[in-house]
Amino acid sequence: LPTFPGGPTATVSQYACQRRTTTENNNKIFTEAFEVLAESYEFNEIEGPCLAFRRAGSVLKSLTFEVRSLGDTQDLPCLGEHTKELIEEILRHGRSFEVEKILSDERYQTLKLFTSVFGVGPKTAEKWYRRGLRSFSDVLTEPSIQLNRMQQTGFLHYEDISRAVSKAEARALGNIIDEAVHAITLDAVIALTGGFRRGKEFGHDVDFIVTTPEPGRERSLLPDVTDRLEQQGILLYCDYQASTFDMSKLPCHRFEAMDHFAKCFLILRLEASKVEGGLNSTEEDSRGWRAVRVDLVSPPMDRYAFALLGWTGSRQFERDLRRFARLERRMLLDNHILYDKTKKEFLAATTEKDIFAHLGLEYIEPWQRNA
Ligand code: CTP
Ligand code: MN
Ligand code: MN
Repeated sequence: LPTFPGGPTATVSQYACQRRTTTENNNKIFTEAFEVLAESYEFNEIEGPCLAFRRAGSVLKSLTFEVRSLGDTQDLPCLGEHTKELIEEILRHGRSFEVEKILSDERYQTLKLFTSVFGVGPKTAEKWYRRGLRSFSDVLTEPSIQLNRMQQTGFLHYEDISRAVSKAEARALGNIIDEAVHAITLDAVIALTGGFRRGKEFGHDVDFIVTTPEPGRERSLLPDVTDRLEQQGILLYCDYQASTFDMSKLPCHRFEAMDHFAKCFLILRLEASKVEGGLNSTEEDSRGWRAVRVDLVSPPMDRYAFALLGWTGSRQFERDLRRFARLERRMLLDNHILYDKTKKEFLAATTEKDIFAHLGLEYIEPWQRNA
């Protein structure tokens, strides 16, 4: 990637998939401020500026140095007027008035609190806010509110699920899923994906791809796995979504947030004894277990590389991979396929490297995708 002929920032690409972004962020002070603004725009459903701040933050995350003056940013892509003003203010005062105003805003604080519950999205949070609810106890004592099963579980395990999952806990869960999948079929394939595959120390959940080479078998694999977890007494919650994958309906030209593979969003009971070094708990916790969020997705084997690339993230990296494919290559990329619109053909891939090669991109390692 960039050699530095015109200074260290001269060749930074506007696409995250052409940058290498590790978990080391030298510009947290700026990127955290940008994220507050992005979130606030998101709560107000103002998409353009929201994405612009996420894009700007992602550019700063990729830098191997700390921005110390506005001059440091002059050759960088994706930084607009508003972002530069913010950077200048933070450089001068160490903080931003605009960000602090948002952080102390009652609506922002309430939506932030409500959306921190598993099963509560911005729409529901907004609805509760408009009804005058401001706290969890307001919500839980409001007779007219019917929580769905996901939200009930979200409140029930709120403290555990809010606490970050450690690498050691992710490894322990990997062992549990590995054992379960292989007990069901010996030729099972399991891969860690999501943030932990990118080398993150902590995550909000643990993501796995589980499948088998036997065509069609992957459609019933997850119910078998969750049945087994249930028998072991460690399945606290399961939201299973059966596969709706149909190759004959692809390529899909409108944007879809979710892929069509079989998947489940779980909450598992993780015993402290299974975790090397113990559970990630702050206070003295005598229970000896915690609840953890786990996601499983099960693509057919010939879709494995696309699913792995799509589920490894980061979200910004994925967004830019798709945008790059569309705008620079006239191709459609999603979690299922890569489609060449010029040649009107699907491009095959068995590894992530194949997909980068089709796109004419240098390979970016998972731990360099923390955009
Ligand atoms: N993803 C997806 N479809 C979904 C959910 C997630 O394609 N329905 C992808 C996202 O693109 C994301 C990845 O799966 O990059 C992992 O999602 P998530 O667990 O939410 O984020 P992480 O990057 O793993 O971060 P965290 O540590 O907070 O879990
Ligand atoms: Mn994750
Ligand atoms: Mn996840």
